[in-house]
Amino acid sequence: STLPAVRAALLAWFDREGRDLPWRVGPEGGRDPYRVWVSEVLLQQTQVARGRVYFERFLEAFPTVQALADTPIEAVLKAWEGCGYYARARNLHRAAGVIVRGGMPTTYDGWRALPGVGPYTAAAVASLACGEARAVNDGNVRRVLARLCGERQPSAAWVQARADDLLDPARPGACNEAVMDLGATVCTPKAPKCGACPVSAWCAALGSGEPAAFPAPKVR
Ligand code: ADE
Repeated sequence: STLPAVRAALLAWFDREGRDLPWRVGPEGGRDPYRVWVSEVLLQQTQVARGRVYFERFLEAFPTVQALADTPIEAVLKAWEGCGYYARARNLHRAAGVIVRGGMPTTYDGWRALPGVGPYTAAAVASLACGEARAVNDGNVRRVLARLCGERQPSAAWVQARADDLLDPARPGACNEAVMDLGATVCTPKAPKCGACPVSAWCAALGSGEPAAFPAPKVR
């Protein structure tokens, strides 16, 4: 199988070229779970460029989960202005109360039980901040894996299975962020920069001559 080579090339690229983002501070798997959680909630519907501005502002207002829990919801909603989807701010505040009473979750299941934390966010925080081997599955992951494997119509289950295969249990957070960064900066929806891709040698979609045709547009 070419999987170990693909994984190694992806991780080496991430170590060299991974984006420097404000929630990526601290050792891999040992990052501040509060920062990672807030960033993942913010990035659910916000692009990284805007998300990082909101992130810095939110962390300045509420540097710790205790500070967030201790703040009246009205003030939290005020600080959330511009970020949209106020349900996310309400859930963050409610979850902060749960965390202050019961402790910071340390597993996927623990994160998943909090209000506003779905499978994507739980997998992201568990892998990035807790070192748990959980593969994230979002639009970027779907596109990268569909191209790599030459799958025009990837189902959600297919994507999850491929993402699980690719995940290095020794570096789950780095694997997840490597695919996120690759999808955001190189393996873009239109005009992918295959010349800059660390895994182009194994890419079935590039081999087909038309990488941007993968995955096929969803029929509605
Ligand atoms: N989008 C969602 N989570 C992200 C992360 N941790 N790094 C970069 N982009 C992201």
